[in-house]
Amino acid sequence: MSSRDPQYDVLFEPVRIGPVTAKNRFYQVPHCTGLGWLRPRMVAALRGMKAEGGWAVVCTEYCSIHPASDDLPHPYASLWDRGDVKAHALMTEQVHAHGALAGVELWYGGARTANLFTNEVAVDVSSRPNAIGAPYQTRRMDKSDIRELRRWHRNAALRAKEAGFDVVYVYATHGYLLSNFLSARTNTRTDQYGGCLENRVRLVRELIEDTKDAVGDKCAVAVRFAADAGGGADGDPVIGEQREMLALLAEYPDLWDINIKDYSYEMGVSRFVKEGALEAYMSYVKSITTKPVVTVGRFTSPDTMVSQVKRGIVDFIGAARPSIADPFLPKKIEDGRTEDICECIGCNVCYIGDSKSVPIRCTQNPTISEEWRRGWHPEKIAPKGSDSTVLVIGAGPAGLEAARALGRRGYQVLLAEAERRLGGRITREAALPGLSEWARVRDYRVQQIQAMANVETYRDSTMEANDVLDVGADHIVVATGARWRADGVGRFNDTPLTEFGPPAQIFTPDDIMKGRVPEGATVVFDDDHYYMGSVVAERLRAEGVPVTLVTPENTVSAWGEYTYEQVRIHRRLLELDVHIITAHGLTAYDGRNALICCIYTGHVQSIAAEAVVTVTARNPDDALYRTLERRIDAGIGDTSRSLARIGDCEAPAIIASAVFSGHRYARELDTVVNPDNRIKYDRVFFEGG
Ligand SMILES: Cc1cc2nc3c(=O)[nH]c(=O)nc-3n(C[C@H](O)[C@H](O)[C@H](O)COP(=O)(O)O)c2cc1C
Ligand code: SF4
Repeated sequence: MSSRDPQYDVLFEPVRIGPVTAKNRFYQVPHCTGLGWLRPRMVAALRGMKAEGGWAVVCTEYCSIHPASDDLPHPYASLWDRGDVKAHALMTEQVHAHGALAGVELWYGGARTANLFTNEVAVDVSSRPNAIGAPYQTRRMDKSDIRELRRWHRNAALRAKEAGFDVVYVYATHGYLLSNFLSARTNTRTDQYGGCLENRVRLVRELIEDTKDAVGDKCAVAVRFAADAGGGADGDPVIGEQREMLALLAEYPDLWDINIKDYSYEMGVSRFVKEGALEAYMSYVKSITTKPVVTVGRFTSPDTMVSQVKRGIVDFIGAARPSIADPFLPKKIEDGRTEDICECIGCNVCYIGDSKSVPIRCTQNPTISEEWRRGWHPEKIAPKGSDSTVLVIGAGPAGLEAARALGRRGYQVLLAEAERRLGGRITREAALPGLSEWARVRDYRVQQIQAMANVETYRDSTMEANDVLDVGADHIVVATGARWRADGVGRFNDTPLTEFGPPAQIFTPDDIMKGRVPEGATVVFDDDHYYMGSVVAERLRAEGVPVTLVTPENTVSAWGEYTYEQVRIHRRLLELDVHIITAHGLTAYDGRNALICCIYTGHVQSIAAEAVVTVTARNPDDALYRTLERRIDAGIGDTSRSLARIGDCEAPAIIASAVFSGHRYARELDTVVNPDNRIKYDRVFFEGG
């Protein structure tokens, strides 16, 4: 029986959306999974898990209506033929099994798709260059193209209905075809689809009407639409014509799914954007339409959600990332277990799946994408396979997650941490500029562990090999992390720099995180290419240190492109007066000058610097593991015990990998795993027509 706090009751009211009713206000907005049409069983199980977790509406990712809208290598969904209908039916069945509605975001990419896979010509409002840099242009749509597009959309809607969807989208934002028709800037047509506002909204209105006509008896029609015209400062929207457009279309669809023009703000990383950031953009929306409204804002606090509903800003709490980090978020609120919510940290690692065409993963939720292929459930885990005791050494992200999941399985767990504070790299990194929300990785796990009588935590407990063996645990798992290198070795330099010193003027991110900060002009050599180089630079600027950031990549924080934060990072560094030098590697430093070398020409230049910070590679902190391995191999102590290393101690990587590694260790202990094939492989259906 539900024991939720009555103040959250409003979140569990049913809401009518045209011909269907959502059982509560929790709405998983469309989001990619890196699975799309390529992995139907994996995506079905992933969405089904959200429904099981209490989301009343669970949507697909963007779903192509026709081969002329192909976005590979980014794995979109598709509704092109009967095979697709069959694939989507796997999802809708699982969503319906838990009393939720299934939504599909019908999509035509226009100038944002080059159709590299299908080789079809993309069409758009005019002959426009591909918007994401491919050397292709669209064909300007003539009347027959518009008729064809409407037919494709209608047919896709019919297939959606056949596949069992309850909510069918017209997708009119995010720079895809329909936004180009809406915008006065991009729509230069002089026919009935261009010019005045009524003409520019015509195609969207026709698609809403077509979709209602085709499937409106059974399916609700939703429109995804931007509340602002773009170009405003963060949180200070320029609404422009969007208000009038919304007014013209206000009562046509059954639901408005409202977002904004700037995707890097809508889906902003927590370093730059906080919870509920779209509120200012939403100020007018509910006053214009009587239809239910959903928006997003990385909502993880039930109090914020209630406030948004009660103040009349939204009817539904839309979520992509919070539903990825914790598919059971609604259920936990309903069950009065808000302290068990695993809150999204706003790192956007989940976006890498789409960017790199691989299954979505999440820093907080190691089970995402593993529901079908490994049979992992975020809230359920097999009971222990023996009465063994497990000693986990190191309480960073891997060690904490291993201890949490082993504890859930019922093992007797001893968690030893050398420092007073738990969290390892999480605690250190969360103190860097903008990263405070990352502490949630630690806090969630510590909070869970503290409630388990079978997990004992020992702080200030540096363990030598003898101490470890003396504990007598059946299983030893070493999670001692990694340390940044100070010798220049990384991607650019394979071997330690020979002219590099003096040591007192060389710093690593570990030094900066410990508070050992240089005082004079400093070169930050970022050969890591993710966030660390830029946050170190930001930290130094906060101390007034002049910084030159040097990177062998062509852009700052190049990997940040995959997490959709690269542009914001670059902007932040420019605002902070960080001098940026791209396409150069560090080759030497003598205490006064750093020598850097152009990756293209080999040309060397000298930069005066009183210090260098090397953000290059890390060394696994695995000395304890290796000593234990030798001792156990030599038969010293009880050789029946197992020894493993996890997380950065095994292979330094992103935090999500450390959490995954700890989780996998816990899942697999005392189970039989086929070493040649740990996972099931998903494949598409083929059925023409
Ligand atoms: C991994 C990922 C994939 C996304 N894919 C889509 C998509 O296919 N279609 C879409 O309209 N929005 C997509 N979005 C944007 C989300 O719908 C949402 O607007 C954004 O993430 C902000 O909501 P949140 O703060 O709840 O994450 C995606 C977001 C994420 C994190
Ligand atoms: S990867 Fe990061 S941003 Fe994405 S859902 Fe997980 S915690 Fe949130």
